Amino acid sequence: MKVAVLGGGPAGLYFAISMKLRNSAHDITVVERNRPDDTFGWGVVLSAETLDNLSRNDPVSAVWIKRYFAYWDDIAVIHKGVRTVSTGHGFCGIGRKRLLTLLQRRARELGIKLAFETEVPDPKPYMETHDLVVAADGLNSRSRAAFAEVFKPDIDVRKCKFVWLGTHQKFDDAFTFIFEETEHGWVWAHAYQFDPDTATFIVECSQETWDKFGFGAMSQQESIAVCERIFEKYLGGHALMTNANHIRGSAWINFPRVLCERWSYRNLALMGDAAASAHFSIGSGTKLALESAVALADYVHSEPTLAAAFEKYESARRTEVLKLQSAARNSLEWFEEVERYLPLDPVQFNYSLLTRSQRISHENLRLRDPAWLGDAEAWFQQRSGSTGNLNRAPMFAPFRLRELTLRNRVVVSPMAQYKAVDGCPTDWHFAHYAERAKGGAGLVYIEMTCVSPEGRITPGCPGLYAPAHEAAWKRLVNFVHAETEAKICAQIGHSGPKGSTRLGWEGTDEPLPAGNWPVMAASAVPWSPENQTPRAMTRADMDRVRDQFVASAEMAARCGFDMLEIHAAHGYLLSSFITPLTNRRGDEYGGSLENRMRYPLEVFHAVRAVWPADKPISMRISANDWVGDDGVTPAEAVEIARLLQAAGVDICDVSAGQTSIRARPVYGRMFQTPFSDRIRNETGMATMAVGNIFEPDHVNSILMAGRADLVCLARPHLADPYWTLHAAVTLGDRDVQWPDPYLPGRDQLYRLAERNATMGLKV
Ligand SMILES: Cc1cc2nc3c(=O)[nH]c(=O)nc-3n(C[C@H](O)[C@H](O)[C@H](O)COP(=O)(O)OP(=O)(O)OC[C@H]3O[C@@H](n4cnc5c(N)ncnc54)[C@H](O)[C@@H]3O)c2cc1C
Ligand SMILES: Cc1cc2nc3c(=O)[nH]c(=O)nc-3n(C[C@H](O)[C@H](O)[C@H](O)COP(=O)(O)O)c2cc1C
Repeated sequence: MKVAVLGGGPAGLYFAISMKLRNSAHDITVVERNRPDDTFGWGVVLSAETLDNLSRNDPVSAVWIKRYFAYWDDIAVIHKGVRTVSTGHGFCGIGRKRLLTLLQRRARELGIKLAFETEVPDPKPYMETHDLVVAADGLNSRSRAAFAEVFKPDIDVRKCKFVWLGTHQKFDDAFTFIFEETEHGWVWAHAYQFDPDTATFIVECSQETWDKFGFGAMSQQESIAVCERIFEKYLGGHALMTNANHIRGSAWINFPRVLCERWSYRNLALMGDAAASAHFSIGSGTKLALESAVALADYVHSEPTLAAAFEKYESARRTEVLKLQSAARNSLEWFEEVERYLPLDPVQFNYSLLTRSQRISHENLRLRDPAWLGDAEAWFQQRSGSTGNLNRAPMFAPFRLRELTLRNRVVVSPMAQYKAVDGCPTDWHFAHYAERAKGGAGLVYIEMTCVSPEGRITPGCPGLYAPAHEAAWKRLVNFVHAETEAKICAQIGHSGPKGSTRLGWEGTDEPLPAGNWPVMAASAVPWSPENQTPRAMTRADMDRVRDQFVASAEMAARCGFDMLEIHAAHGYLLSSFITPLTNRRGDEYGGSLENRMRYPLEVFHAVRAVWPADKPISMRISANDWVGDDGVTPAEAVEIARLLQAAGVDICDVSAGQTSIRARPVYGRMFQTPFSDRIRNETGMATMAVGNIFEPDHVNSILMAGRADLVCLARPHLADPYWTLHAAVTLGDRDVQWPDPYLPGRDQLYRLAERNATMGLKV
């Protein structure tokens, strides 16, 4: 087979080698625009797993590469002058130049032709004269551009500026992150040793800081001089160096995240950075390039046609690439938003950094460095005011709001049961909530409880608008207080445009088949074409509903609820004011965010005035309408939270969506937690995170990284009322309180867990 490889980086060279190893008769040429040692960059990081893959593919080059590997186990983070070190991370690195020289040598030895200093402006001539063309021409691939309409590249140029430098200062004891505050903002470095004398030193900052420094107008040497001054105290008198002298002007770039809809066309395949890029902060670009090279070489030899080989190559590698790109996106977004996290305490900042890609979980960190994690957990407990055992996971830390102290950070999220009769909670509610209160969570919510009959979502929704309701809820609250350590929160709300609909399992948000009642909202905008058009609220309506909220709050206070939440999310009445998708008002309640928030805040102030001063109030919001800039965005949610905070709301329950049928949510593990993170760390307001959080590991990592103060789990508590007690068993925590009659069950469960653990089984 006559093969042309366009680009002599890691992907191109390793593909050529892998092809030749599978059939020495192949006639392979690698075409590279630079000279053999004219390469940008310094060291690259690989993992032990990648090394094993390389050894299986080509033991000869793997041995050469390993000989030059620098290994390190620790990550050091220098933040606010404090250097925190954690261990057990296991990296290895090699100079990029060294890697390429070894691969060039191996390629020559195998009879591959290397054509240096040869520019490839267009891949088409190669496609005419070769059986197979692999375009491994990097991030700015010309070949990709030549067939852009086929490959459909999606290039997302990210916000930060960075430059890849080197230094002879030693960073051989740890992969080191340094965060320095300068007169123009924060600048940070990612530093790691890759040979006995040299370390990579990537300098990164926001565009704003970069502009203020005027790096854009500087030569490489001038900007290096500025970087040397910024990081002077860490460089021990050593210089920062560039090896990008062949690049004209400043070598700073913005990272382009490259995705392509297709990776092949006719006899040409894209590979490495040309096909897909992964941000350098998770150090996986070279790994992806090398592993894709092996995969394509395999398929070219195992499949009957080139087309079949390309198809297998794309489907096999795409999943791997998408997984890494997702982790890389989390990581690069963390760096883009790092100024949000810099005010955190160094312990929490360090934790946040280590878990930024969301590939390393809380328990994974415990395996890596139990001592470090133990200290971090003790710090968290101490800061939470824990007076007991400090050696406990963050989910078991107490939390205080006004005079309310929760014994732990797990919350049973509000969940409609649709079992009420004429607004009155029934035995179902008593049994259901009593079980959850016995189950160990610090705080148990009752479902959205409506302030009036018309304010119900469905005929099965409960209320707090009649003496019978108050009596029934009071019985539950008394039980919870008498028999459990849980606290109980009432969520009060009005359904607005989503009212008069069917029970959840009969068709969510669908109008009743018969017996509909009229509905109202901020504006006359129906939830869907099938739903009623609500009446736009008049001032009189607004006064009446506000007073109904107040009356419900008074009932909730008499019931003895420990906390109150006003439901202003999910498209219901108050939410219909907040989101511009449903608020079309031309008065002082519509238009600007201040106007759209005016009525929900009026309700809050009226409720706050009657709610006991020692008890907290929360508001639940939809922090993202999931319709882009037409609706509430996560950025606007920060402004919503600022208004709540200024009004005296104690905690923001950060949900999202359900405000429009146009919404296109992006689901995933903990998918709404970033909104809580943003609100908490940009405003300083306490938050609750919710949404697809289902493992103790999720809860602990959210809390420890400072992404929320409390963590709500809804569906997991439908499946398991004892979720918290079971989580404690999984984590080996024996300080949780089980109800006395259940102690023999507790003892058996811990015994079984211990036995399973010794046998390597999961509980
Ligand atoms: C700052 C920084 C730090 C990084 N750190 C790491 C790390 O720690 N670990 C890691 O695994 N990865 C890291 N990477 C990513 C890694 O360098 C790339 O993912 C990897 O090099 C991809 O290999 P490639 O062969 O696809 O592309 P490249 O290495 O970019 O190679 C492409 C080659 O094609 C040549 N070329 C381009 N256009 C033409 C043309 N028209 N004609 C002829 N030749 C051409 C180029 O000169 C180059 O030699 C980092 C990247 C950057 C920018
Ligand atoms: C059956 C059911 C009923 C719900 N009812 C309410 C409710 O009454 N009030 C509310 O704010 N959210 C309600 N939710 C939303 C949950 O509180 C939670 O935000 C959502 O389910 C995401 O959390 P999860 O992934 O842990 O389930 C309900 C969710 C479910 C599954």
